[in-house]
Amino acid sequence: MSLLSSPFTPPPRLLMGPGPITCDPRVLQAMSNQLIGQYDPSMTACMNETMALYRDVFVTENRWTFMVDATARGGIEAAMISVLKPGDRVLVPIMGRFGHLLKEIAERCGAEVSVLDVPWGEVADPEKVIAAIKRVKPDLVALVQGDTSTTMCQPLKEIGNFCRAEGILSYCDATASIGGNTFLTDEWGIDIVSAGLQKCLGGPSGIAPITISPEATRRIRARHHVEAGIRTQAHQNGKGERIRSNYFDLAMIMDYWSEERLNHHTEATSMLFAARECARLLLSEGRDEVVERHRINGAALAAGLSAMGLRLYGNQQHRMNNVVGVYIPDGVDGERVRRYMLEDFGIEIGTSFGPLVGVIWRIGTMGYNARKGAVLPTLACLEQALRLEGVSVPAGAAVAAAMASYADAGAQSDE
Ligand SMILES: Cc1ncc(COP(=O)(O)O)c(C=O)c1O
Repeated sequence: MSLLSSPFTPPPRLLMGPGPITCDPRVLQAMSNQLIGQYDPSMTACMNETMALYRDVFVTENRWTFMVDATARGGIEAAMISVLKPGDRVLVPIMGRFGHLLKEIAERCGAEVSVLDVPWGEVADPEKVIAAIKRVKPDLVALVQGDTSTTMCQPLKEIGNFCRAEGILSYCDATASIGGNTFLTDEWGIDIVSAGLQKCLGGPSGIAPITISPEATRRIRARHHVEAGIRTQAHQNGKGERIRSNYFDLAMIMDYWSEERLNHHTEATSMLFAARECARLLLSEGRDEVVERHRINGAALAAGLSAMGLRLYGNQQHRMNNVVGVYIPDGVDGERVRRYMLEDFGIEIGTSFGPLVGVIWRIGTMGYNARKGAVLPTLACLEQALRLEGVSVPAGAAVAAAMASYADAGAQSDE
């Protein structure tokens, strides 16, 4: 078959893994708009509107709330490389794969990294984190709110506020959790938060919303020097340590998003349209309402899985609303079940990382797929896929339990 004969047409899929998830069609529609020029007033207006919308998504007054044109990992890297100087001390509580990622990125920035290891399936006890902060005296505490590798959601309020009171910067990766779990940037005293669209915000990956507190902004900008509209690295004036990336230099990206519009990169316009639409959809539904929708759908999925006789993974009191880990039953080939789900039913569920490979599946109910019409078919099809693997599953129990869970949630909201 000639590659030239037809464009790529992806098969229809329901993406029920830990992200990316099925994109909201309204976001795809926003992305299909024609491009406009970088300095067209309608483009700069769109950038300003997107900044304002994400202040509401992050629940912050931070002026510097904008987009890094990269996947969520690029947002993390931009935050770290713009703040950290070689030799700075960083503390990372590690409760899963993405804590390891923060450690690795901080090390590449030349920081001395201390970690607080947490058993997988648990969160870090804020008191223990605070004790570690007192011991390590870090310049930056780097945290993950929702670590999709373990499905756990880290409590942040005490840690963030302690750092703020002590003048220590805090960073949080909220890629997998923002939208589906409460995140209060200012109230929790978090200095820098970065995210992605492809989880609870219902968009594609490829752009990283970020918000930066005034103090973090001051420290980032102190590494630069602007004269006659030309930005130079502060180190050239003997004033500081250069930010060791051009692309991820947040001070330069801020200039691009400022009224001065100093050129840095060419804005990823279609991704900007997506980001704006994701935030608009979330905020028009209501921030708390969207969190509650994720909670209800996650609870229904968990109820359905339990009713099938499957065991849920991790401390359920700290589970993210939007992803459930579930043990693969003994003797079952987890990958074969995932293949049945994909090939027979067009549904993708997630595998796992590191020590959990072959031990759990991860099933997401997030963004556009935090809805009954995605959760119930997933449970019904998983029941059949398990039967194909020879597991005896009570017929119809999963869907019935999920429907009962939805009914309970409905009854509670009517009270
Ligand atoms: C918590 C967390 N952080 C960061 C990332 C990296 O995101 P991206 O693949 O968009 O770079 C992910 C992706 O799964 C994630 O779950």
